[in-house]
Amino acid sequence: MSDTYRANLISLLASDLDFHESSSREFTHDLHAFPAKFPPQLPRKFIDGLTQPGEVVLDPMVGSGTTLVEALLADRQAIGFDIDPLALRLCQAKTAFVSPLRAAQAGLDVLRKARVAVYEQRSALQGELGQRFDHKTLEFVDYWFVPEAQIELLALLKQIELLPGDSVRSFLELVFSSVIITKSGGVSLALDLAHTRPHRAKEKPYRSPIKEFEKRLRQNLNSLAALPTVRPLVMLGSADAQRLPLRGSSVDLIVTSPPYPANAIDYMRAHKFSLVWLGYPLDFLSQYRKRYIGSEALNGARIAELPSTTTDIIQTIADSDRSKASALRRYYSEMTHVLAEMIRVLKPGKAAIVVVGSSVIRGIDTRTYDCLAEIGQQLGFEIAHIGVRNLDRDRRMMPARRGHERHSQIEHRMHQEYVIGFYKPGVSR
Ligand SMILES: C[S@@+](CC[C@H](N)C(=O)[O-])C[C@H]1O[C@@H](n2cnc3c(N)ncnc32)[C@H](O)[C@@H]1O
Repeated sequence: MSDTYRANLISLLASDLDFHESSSREFTHDLHAFPAKFPPQLPRKFIDGLTQPGEVVLDPMVGSGTTLVEALLADRQAIGFDIDPLALRLCQAKTAFVSPLRAAQAGLDVLRKARVAVYEQRSALQGELGQRFDHKTLEFVDYWFVPEAQIELLALLKQIELLPGDSVRSFLELVFSSVIITKSGGVSLALDLAHTRPHRAKEKPYRSPIKEFEKRLRQNLNSLAALPTVRPLVMLGSADAQRLPLRGSSVDLIVTSPPYPANAIDYMRAHKFSLVWLGYPLDFLSQYRKRYIGSEALNGARIAELPSTTTDIIQTIADSDRSKASALRRYYSEMTHVLAEMIRVLKPGKAAIVVVGSSVIRGIDTRTYDCLAEIGQQLGFEIAHIGVRNLDRDRRMMPARRGHERHSQIEHRMHQEYVIGFYKPGVSR
């Protein structure tokens, strides 16, 4: 490791990574809720400290695109991949040039026409709801959205769909989605969308999608106006982080956070609440969900040979729950393939910053940070240091607490995230 780069990497990892004092809502970061997203200060710290303008920054599991936005703001070349359709739409909208004036005009027009339609074309809208979705998707919509919310959502959507397919329309689709996906379940009957199984609350007070759209539109227009002109993205695509469409030794820095093990945050379960409205049938989404790292479906997973500490933890869990242990084996196997891709695409002498939380299965801490560090070392990475950050749970969509974890050491760990500094040995040219 070049001595200065190494010292710099270690000191960044050992510095304050909590960021509780600063706002995480600047620029386009707050356009849409996203479970377990980075505070922007985190990728910013490593991008500023470890790269120069023009260098390549990658996030292979890009989520809501925090790393991408920060890389572009710092004049770096940004590349992102994910498999989640909502994440990809979100990254596109957060990094594209959207004229605030055109977006405001189009958004206000959508609002005005939707209000008129709810008033004048109520029964036509009601009829269309029955035809728009297949049987299963309609059942889902009926279960989670009260009839009045369905009518207002459809009225908004129909106006958005009349717009040309450009960045303004993508921006408004996200405003639409952001009224559904919030920590408290937005205009749906769900109580908590970060929950593995969202709870339906029939008595939840009615929130008008049209009013919420108006509120979010105003907020999001302010965010747009604050985003300076930045470089365009180099690449954003739907790709599995286990098979990256990139040349070897082509990336200067990776900053990423994989899903939690044991499916503690089920992205598709939350995202389907808006994706069904954006044209994805429920059956398709349920099948698609199996492709996420950390999902519990075992079919098609490529199981890897795992090192000793990781194998021991899986074995301890297997003693009380074999199926959870198999799912964890799948998780660490997939993360082995992801880390192998990371070391392949990184230039020698450069770092990958991987942020992980820990999960508890049957009362046993999965020690994700130790396991991933061990797997990375097996693949040829050096571990520079593992930093710890204390989470402000109230500010983020996080996995739900379980009763037995409260007040325990494990509960304490669930308030922390680990920032692993992987270093690819060699000399950078
Ligand atoms: C913790 S989130 C990333 C959050 C991100 N750091 C942010 O600031 O928004 C993990 C992401 O991994 C993605 N993911 C899951 N399986 C994947 C796979 N096989 N390939 C690529 N991305 C995947 C999920 O869709 C999710 O967006």
